[in-house]
Amino acid sequence: MPGNNAGKQCRETMIDRATMIKTQKIPVLILCAALCAALASPPIAVKSASRAPVRARHGMVSSVSEIASQIGVDVLKRGGNAVDAAVAVGLALAVVWPEAGNLGGGGFMVIRLANGKATAIDYREMGPAAAHRNVYLDSRGEYIPESSTFGHRAAGVPGSVAGMAYALEKYGTMKWAAVAEPARRLAVDGFPVWYQLERSLRSGERGLSRDPESKRIFLRNGKFYETGEIFKQPELGATLARTIREGPREFYEGRTAQMIAASMKKADGWMTMEDLKNYRVVEREPLRGAYRGHEIITMPPPSSGGIALLQMLNILERYDLKSLGFGSSASTHLKVEAMRRAFADRAQYLGDPDFVKVPVAGLISRPYANTLASTIDAKRASTSETVRHGNPLPFESEQTTHYTVADKDGNLVSCTTTINLSFGGKVTVEGAGFLLNNEMDDFAPKPGEPNAYGLVQGEANAVGARKRPLSSMTPTIVLKNGKLWFAAGSPGGPTIINTVMQIITNIVDYDMNIQQAIDAPRIHHQWLPDEITYEPMGLVADVINALGAMGHRFVDRPRYMGDAQGVMIDDKTGLRLGASDPRLNGKAVGY
Ligand code: GLY
Repeated sequence: MPGNNAGKQCRETMIDRATMIKTQKIPVLILCAALCAALASPPIAVKSASRAPVRARHGMVSSVSEIASQIGVDVLKRGGNAVDAAVAVGLALAVVWPEAGNLGGGGFMVIRLANGKATAIDYREMGPAAAHRNVYLDSRGEYIPESSTFGHRAAGVPGSVAGMAYALEKYGTMKWAAVAEPARRLAVDGFPVWYQLERSLRSGERGLSRDPESKRIFLRNGKFYETGEIFKQPELGATLARTIREGPREFYEGRTAQMIAASMKKADGWMTMEDLKNYRVVEREPLRGAYRGHEIITMPPPSSGGIALLQMLNILERYDLKSLGFGSSASTHLKVEAMRRAFADRAQYLGDPDFVKVPVAGLISRPYANTLASTIDAKRASTSETVRHGNPLPFESEQTTHYTVADKDGNLVSCTTTINLSFGGKVTVEGAGFLLNNEMDDFAPKPGEPNAYGLVQGEANAVGARKRPLSSMTPTIVLKNGKLWFAAGSPGGPTIINTVMQIITNIVDYDMNIQQAIDAPRIHHQWLPDEITYEPMGLVADVINALGAMGHRFVDRPRYMGDAQGVMIDDKTGLRLGASDPRLNGKAVGY
């Protein structure tokens, strides 16, 4: 491109003339810089100054915890495949990252095997049999504060153990005992607390203090764990040992199930042995779409993530984001407008597909994206009062954790797991050592009113017995020319979807590597509330002013979003490039 060549020459001239500074010829330099800026059009994509991705020849695991990533790599080294390693990592995270890693929650695992087959394992929690639409409302129909976020009644029937066991049985090569043993050992022998875990446990003080068992185990009754101290969890170790001895069904039908039911009974919860026994994993066809020719494989409902991600990418594909420039007001405006429209549809249409008809094909169709995009004014923000959900029917034919695993043979797992908010419902199953989720708040506890994430959702996601709450988890895999290219996902409630979308556009449009794409600042908009969330230093003042002049509104205070974990395959060398988000300082480990 002539503009870019001119810019390149100009940069070279500036370097050649560096010595001029010494001879006080600064005005010449300034003139050259101004010319350079004027000639270099379109703007050159600015890449963040990131550390290089971790490089390895055979396999890679990227997670929030170096200990968990290393356990995954050890399994790969022992000959396990990506699914074996993913299950070992998931179980290890249940020990080392209690704010989100779990036995008492659920998750989604998107797998692509070396032979090209892709699948999605849904082990989302389910509403207990006693749950119904109005279960969190009082006699006047008002939401009972905290009823879906704190305590035993906030918990859906956990799916994690069943889901990981299912994936292992069908797509792994190792036995449960082999992949669960490292986690059991970690729980029993303990492991050194690292800085981020120290902070995480301290941050849970207010909620965890309300449950004596949580307070004893995670807060050591107020004598907080400090970095370097050894954190042992013997009850959790014993729970893992029972599943190793008796098999993972033990969790749903054995002593562990009895402990959960007893803990429920004592606290007036409603989950029963019957609920646990009836928990079912569902293997689903993953959603497929494309962005600028690259195939996207992602999670279908009951995640809203895959649908919203594809909707946004379909809209954004119509625009030349590259020449608009990374982080410019124009590209940020378009991303926000795409987010606004996808989240408006999320609120209206999405729920558990086993209970409500979700117009998936229409929502992710390109013609539908065209109708949505046609309502975007390139110079003016829409308002969320005016943007309502569209009509896809005619087209019809803080906390969670993500990890990504690639093995030497080309199998890849992108897995997101959650107990919902940090430390879930804050209550620990007595004697069993693990926290229960508060996933029931991912339903619309009162349709039309915001849940804990501020998400306003409709009847499609109303509470129901044996129904799965709508999720935003978006474990995703991207292919280039039919071959694995990269995979990523993130925690962060509704921000997950936008985080994954931005990682994809960072790589595809701005040519970033996986680490740069994960490090780059993020924005978030979820239709309601009608405001842009942005990260500290994430938007420069000029861009904020320009967007404000277009009619956009912003949160009062910026905050960090997400904790993405990704792996990219270098198409020339086949090297596995691992990237972990600096926001929580996780670690990619390869071999
Ligand atoms: N619990 C967060 C989500 O599934 O979206």
